[in-house]
Amino acid sequence: MDLLRRKCYTVEEGKLVRKLGVVDLVALGIGGIIGAGIFVITGKVAHAYAGPGIVLAFLLCAVVVGISAFIYAELSTAYPISGSAYSYTYATVGEFVAWLVAWNLIVEYGVATAAVATGWSGYMRTLLKENLGLELPTFLSGPFNLEKGTFIDLLAFLALVAVFLLLTVGIKESATVNNIMVGIKLITLLVFVVFGLPHINFDNLNPFLPYGLTGVWHAASMIIFAYLGFDAVSTVAEEAKDPKRTLPAGLILSLAISTALYIVVSFTLVGMVNYKELNVPDALAYAMFRTGNHTLGSLIATGAIITITSVMIVMGLGFTRVVFALSRDGLLPLWLSEVHPRFRTPYRATLLGGLVISLLGGFLPLEDLAKLVNIGTLFAYFWVAVGLILLRWRGDAEPTFKLPAAWFFVPLNMALLLFVMAGLGKETWVRFLLWNLLGLVIYFFYGYRNSRYYERTPAEM
Ligand code: ALA
Repeated sequence: MDLLRRKCYTVEEGKLVRKLGVVDLVALGIGGIIGAGIFVITGKVAHAYAGPGIVLAFLLCAVVVGISAFIYAELSTAYPISGSAYSYTYATVGEFVAWLVAWNLIVEYGVATAAVATGWSGYMRTLLKENLGLELPTFLSGPFNLEKGTFIDLLAFLALVAVFLLLTVGIKESATVNNIMVGIKLITLLVFVVFGLPHINFDNLNPFLPYGLTGVWHAASMIIFAYLGFDAVSTVAEEAKDPKRTLPAGLILSLAISTALYIVVSFTLVGMVNYKELNVPDALAYAMFRTGNHTLGSLIATGAIITITSVMIVMGLGFTRVVFALSRDGLLPLWLSEVHPRFRTPYRATLLGGLVISLLGGFLPLEDLAKLVNIGTLFAYFWVAVGLILLRWRGDAEPTFKLPAAWFFVPLNMALLLFVMAGLGKETWVRFLLWNLLGLVIYFFYGYRNSRYYERTPAEM
C-alpha cells in the first residue's frame, strides 16, 4: 500500500491568460476573508471569551494566518495550479494526507456556508423587525434548543436552500461583481467605525481582559474564522501577472487591510457596547441601533446581509469544487461529479451537499459550526506547512517566491496552529476526530483503490 503516492502536476504555461494585477488579487482576498466572522462572531466571542481583549485575539490570529499566507504564497508559485491546499499536499506530502486535507476542506467550505447563513439570518431578522415590525415566531428563530424554545432557524435554512439552487443552475464568477461586493463590505465597516467611534464609552473597556489571557486564547481559536478565505488568492496563481511579485503582495495586503479593519471595528464595538450585552447574532447593527440612529443601523444590517450573501455563494461554490475535484480523482464516487447536461454544473454534489448543509444551518448554532470549520481548516494549514518543508527538502519544484527565514517561521507557524487548535475545547476535538475517522474509513474502503493513481508508479502520475 502506498499512502505517499504523489501527483505530478504539469503546468501548461500560457493556457490561462495572465491578466490579474495586485489590485485584483487584493480584492479577491478581501472578498474571501471579510464576512460573517467580523459581522457576527466578534460579538459572541467578546461576550463569551475575551471581552474587550478580543482586539488581542485578532492580533494573534493575524500572526498565525499571516505566516500561513506566506507559505501558501511560496507553494502557489511552485505549483501554480488550482485546488489550493488539496493540490499542494497531493504534490508534496502524498495522497493520503491530501485526502484528509480535502476531507477537512469539505467541512471548511460546507459547514462555513451553514455557519455564515445563521449570521445572515440574524441580520435579516433585525432588519425585518426594525423596519417592518415583522417577527418570526420563536420556534422558527433559532437553532434547535429546547430551553430557549427554538426549533429551527428558518431564514438560515431558506437562505441555504436558495444558495444551493442558485449554484445548481450555475452562476458566473465575475471580477466586477466581486469588486462591488468588496466595496460594499469596506464601506459598511468604515461607516460603522466613523459613526461608532464618537459613541465609545471608555468604561466599557474596563476591565480589558475579564477572562484573562486564557480567554484571549479561546477567543483566538474562534475568531480565526474571520481570517479564513485568504487562500482564494492562491487559487488564481495561473492567472496572475508576474506571480512572483503579485501573489505574495495580494495575499499579504489583503490580510493586512482585513486585520487593520478587524482591529478598529472590534475596538469600536466593545467600546460602544459592554461586552456582556454582545450575545446577539447581529452585533454591529445592534450597536448602531442602540445609539438611536435607526437609518445607520439599517444601513449596517443591509451591508452585512449583502456581504454575507456573497460569502455564502463563494463558500458554497468552494464546497462543490472540492467534492468535484475529489470525485474526478476517484477518491469519491464519480457519480457525484456528473455535470448537468444543461446547467453545466456538478448538480448532484451541489444538491446533495446543499441539503445536508441547509439542515446543519437550520438546526445547529453558529458557534458549534464555526468551531468545526476552524479546526478542520487549521489542520489543512498545518499540512500545507509540512508540504513546504518537503518541497524545500526535495527541491522538486521551483517556487519563484520564497518565505524568508523559513527555518524559523514554518515551525513557529506549526506550533501556533496547534496552539490555536488546542483552544477549541474537547467537544470540537471529538467531532473533528469522528469526522476524520469517517474519512479514514472512506479512504481505505473506497478511495485508495478507486484513485486514478492506483497502482501507478510516480513516473506515470
Ligand atoms: N472569513 C470568512 C468570514 O468571516 C469565512 O465569513
